[in-house]
Amino acid sequence: MAVIGIESSAHTFGVGIVENGKVLSNEKEMYRIGKSGMIPNEVAEFHAGNAGAVISRAISKAGISRKDITGVGYTRGPGLGPCLQVGQLSAKILAKRLGVPIAQVNHGVGHIEAARIFSGLDKPVVLYVSGGNSQILILSEEPFRHYKVLGETFDIGVGNMLDTFARAIRLDPAWGSTVDKYAKNGKYVELPYNVKGMDFSFTGLVTKASKLASAHSKEDLCFSIEETAFAMLCETTERALLLTGSKELCVCGGVAQSARLREMLGIMAEEHGIRFGFCDNQFNADNGAMIALVAERMLKGNCSARIGECDIEQRYRVDAAKVFL
Ligand code: FE2
Repeated sequence: MAVIGIESSAHTFGVGIVENGKVLSNEKEMYRIGKSGMIPNEVAEFHAGNAGAVISRAISKAGISRKDITGVGYTRGPGLGPCLQVGQLSAKILAKRLGVPIAQVNHGVGHIEAARIFSGLDKPVVLYVSGGNSQILILSEEPFRHYKVLGETFDIGVGNMLDTFARAIRLDPAWGSTVDKYAKNGKYVELPYNVKGMDFSFTGLVTKASKLASAHSKEDLCFSIEETAFAMLCETTERALLLTGSKELCVCGGVAQSARLREMLGIMAEEHGIRFGFCDNQFNADNGAMIALVAERMLKGNCSARIGECDIEQRYRVDAAKVFL
C-alpha cells in the first residue's frame, strides 16, 4: 500500500510517498521569499507550475509506478488559501484518475506524527514550533482521539517572530534561520519574558529587541531573542510535562530545526528523566512525506473523503483533527 501525500500550505510544494510507514521518497520545490514576503496568489502560481513535475519526481524516486499508489492525502489546512487549493486540486485529480481513496490531513498533525513516529515515542508531550504555530500538546481520547492543546502563543508563532525580527534588523536573508546563525556569537541583553501558565506571548519581545537595534550588535540581539524565546518555550513545556506526568517529550515544526532549542529542551528533559526525541530536519521543514504518513494511517482507519466533499480550511486547528495511530 503506497500512499502519496501532497503538502502546499505555504511556500513549499512537497510530495512524499510512504509504504507501511516507510518513506520511499520526499520531493519538493520551494518558492523563494523576496523582500515583500509571501504573496499568496504568486506562491500558488509557483505551486501550480511545479505540481506535475514534483509529483512525477516523487513517484520515480520511490521506484514505483502510478498503479502502485493505493491512496492519496493532501494538506487540508491550516495555511494560505490559494496555496492549499493547488494541493487539494492536484490530490483530487490524482485520486480520481487512479481510482483510489483520498484523505484530508491537518498540517500540524503531519509534523507531530512524523516527530512522534520517527523518534519512537508513544504518547509524548509535544512542542510544536513553526512560523505560524507555537503550541504544547498531548494526545487525548476525549471526545475523540486528537492532539489537545495544553498551552499556546497568545499572539504570533515563534518562527514568525524570528522572521519579523530578522527583517527589522535587516539580516540577509531575513529569516529566522539567519538569526540562529548570528546567535552563536552573542552575549545576553535583557529582553521581555512573557509566560502565563502554559501560554506565552512573543510580540513584546520582538518589539523591544527591534527597538534596541542601534544600541547592540546583531549577534548580541540574535542571541538574546533566541535565548529568551526558547527559555519561555522550555519553561512552559516543563510545566506541561509535570502537569501530565508524561515521561516523553518531542519537538517538531520548522523551529525544531534549531540545534540550540533542542539542546535546551534536552537538558530540561534529562533533569526530569524524560525521554526526548525529534525527527530528521526534512520532516520539520514542510514536506509531503509527513502528509502521506498521516494519510496512510487515516485510510487504514477508513477515514477517507468523497472527492466532491474535499475542501480546504485555512484555520484548521490541530485539535479539530481526528488522529489515527
Ligand atoms: Fe509546517
